[in-house]
Amino acid sequence: MTIAFFDAKPYDIEAFDQAVQSTDIHIKYYETKLNEDTVRLAEGAQAVCVFVNDTVNAAVIDRLCALGVQVVALRCAGFNNVDMKYAFGKIHVLRVPAYSPYAVAEHTAALLLTSVRRIHKAFIRTRDNNFSLSGLKGFDLHGKTVGVIGTGKIGRVFIDICRGFGMNVLAYDKYPANGLDNGDTVRYTDLDTLFANSDIISLHCPLTDETHHLIDESSLDKCKKGVVILNTSRGALVDSQALLEGIKARKVGAACLDVYEEEADLFFEDNSGHILDDDTLARLISMPNVIVTSHQAFLTKEALSNIAETTVDNLLGFFENGQCPNELCFRGGIAEDCKSGRCF
Ligand code: NAI
Repeated sequence: MTIAFFDAKPYDIEAFDQAVQSTDIHIKYYETKLNEDTVRLAEGAQAVCVFVNDTVNAAVIDRLCALGVQVVALRCAGFNNVDMKYAFGKIHVLRVPAYSPYAVAEHTAALLLTSVRRIHKAFIRTRDNNFSLSGLKGFDLHGKTVGVIGTGKIGRVFIDICRGFGMNVLAYDKYPANGLDNGDTVRYTDLDTLFANSDIISLHCPLTDETHHLIDESSLDKCKKGVVILNTSRGALVDSQALLEGIKARKVGAACLDVYEEEADLFFEDNSGHILDDDTLARLISMPNVIVTSHQAFLTKEALSNIAETTVDNLLGFFENGQCPNELCFRGGIAEDCKSGRCF
């Protein structure tokens, strides 16, 4: 079986070469992302393997089908870059629903601590023998209220971490989890109450039409002055321009972003020799109270090997048995894991 693997990075190649040992899978690695211009590279492959910033729109799906490609194997959980409605009935879409919620939740906690204790500033100062503490005052997390939007796998691990710090949790989810609300330190609430009462807000829900720009001018208006916004989920959950205005107005106390709504052409690449065309991102990065990492939250050795092993199992299962529990279905207007075992 031949797989055309797009947006390949050295750490992907290392993990996947390990995972396909003793299988009949042959991987052709391509550094380029999948899009309408590069889709022809999939010729001769039975499946393509793609990541978060590859484009799987209607035109790409049509071309893949014409080339005889049967499967899009996502090596990630989110699938907002796939036109699921169009794909249904044409091409099978497999994903890795979970690989390490700890990786993402722990990165979120790392960003939070770095921000509120000004570690990013202190690190640079002491390297320059500047041992002054001026401007480095932080605040205790203990006793603060964190609003967690999305209480799935990652959100729940993040809640556990926050509880370890003695924080109170206000949670919001379209589909609340049984047994999480203890009526005391962790409580489900509506979004407006969460916005009004949280010192820190962390996003752990998928990007959908409903959650697009969940954090915008109107929601920021409802927040406490000094609120810290954490986004390790998907960039377009946050209206970046509104966030920037909120920071300039001193309404937002800090922002930690592992994702950015226009990240596709920038993140994961070394652009250090280039002039950044995106003024909003450039301005955000210039702020002393903004920390940006480039979609790095998943990047642990445990997560990478889980991603590779699950993707290979998905492909072997699909091509051997014609079905895979991690296939995505699009029924009734929503995409979800296939319950029937045969999507079409
Ligand atoms: P999950 O599927 O376990 O949890 C998502 C939760 O969001 C579910 O409880 C769901 O009910 C809830 N939800 C759905 N629609 C909602 C809405 N309109 N409002 C509020 N909540 C809603 O997913 P998981 O594994 O916890 O991942 C969460 C997100 O993290 C993913 O969607 C993905 O975008 C992001 N992610 C980011 C990574 C990174 O490296 N930065 C790596 C992996 C995931």
